[in-house]
Amino acid sequence: MQERLQKILSQAGIASRRESESIILDGRVAVNGTVVTELGTKADPDTDTITVDGKPVAIEEKRVYILLYKPVGYMTTMKDPEGRPIVSDLLKEVKERVYPIGRLDYNTEGLLLLTNDGALANTLMHPSHEVDKGYLVRVSGQVSAVQIKKLSDGVKLEDGMTAPAKVAPFSESENNTWISITIHEGRYRQVRRMCEAVGLSVVRLKRARYDFLEIGEMKPGEFRFLSAEEVAKLKRKTVPVGPGRGPRKTGVVARRGAPTRR
Ligand code: URA
Repeated sequence: MQERLQKILSQAGIASRRESESIILDGRVAVNGTVVTELGTKADPDTDTITVDGKPVAIEEKRVYILLYKPVGYMTTMKDPEGRPIVSDLLKEVKERVYPIGRLDYNTEGLLLLTNDGALANTLMHPSHEVDKGYLVRVSGQVSAVQIKKLSDGVKLEDGMTAPAKVAPFSESENNTWISITIHEGRYRQVRRMCEAVGLSVVRLKRARYDFLEIGEMKPGEFRFLSAEEVAKLKRKTVPVGPGRGPRKTGVVARRGAPTRR
């Protein structure tokens, strides 16, 4: 996005807005190799090379952390060759370019974190960090105690056994049963494949919890920015405690039981 040069320089921490104006007037600033001395000049920090005294200005984008309620019918990608809706369509007012942390299938709804903080995204997605993800699953018909036990103990999928999961029946009607499944792995269509493996047919799948972040009263398509405390909590979770010992666990809040039903 095009911005006034003095704004770009001050955002990059070169100098205050007023001092940046003097730096420009002194002929010390160049855009794509051409010295600029006019104060109204605009440039795009994403595409133009801006230098002060010949040194490139490093633009640090503000870090943002977004919690989105992804509705059914959206792809968790930044582009879809088939032209289907994508999650960034729901974030038009967010000017930073954010990327999803993990994925939800086209037909899965619920919590999706997005950020431009690549380091945190990579850490949270790394299997060693074992972030709990709580799903509510509506399946056809009734669910037996044997099926619950199999899901909890781990089931054999094409890509190997699943790790033990927290599984509990949630509510039951004549035709359907809701169960809650909390896993810390993030394999492709894992919950659907686990259910299929024990003979359950999934009719609705919703991620209601990502670690300590809960869906609460959020509606499909809504999003909010994480608070500084929430970001700090996520970051604390990902601080390694020592070589080969994995991350520090945050304790009770991150380990709570079934997510709330909406
Ligand atoms: N498990 C699935 O099967 N689908 C998702 O989108 C997430 C978890």
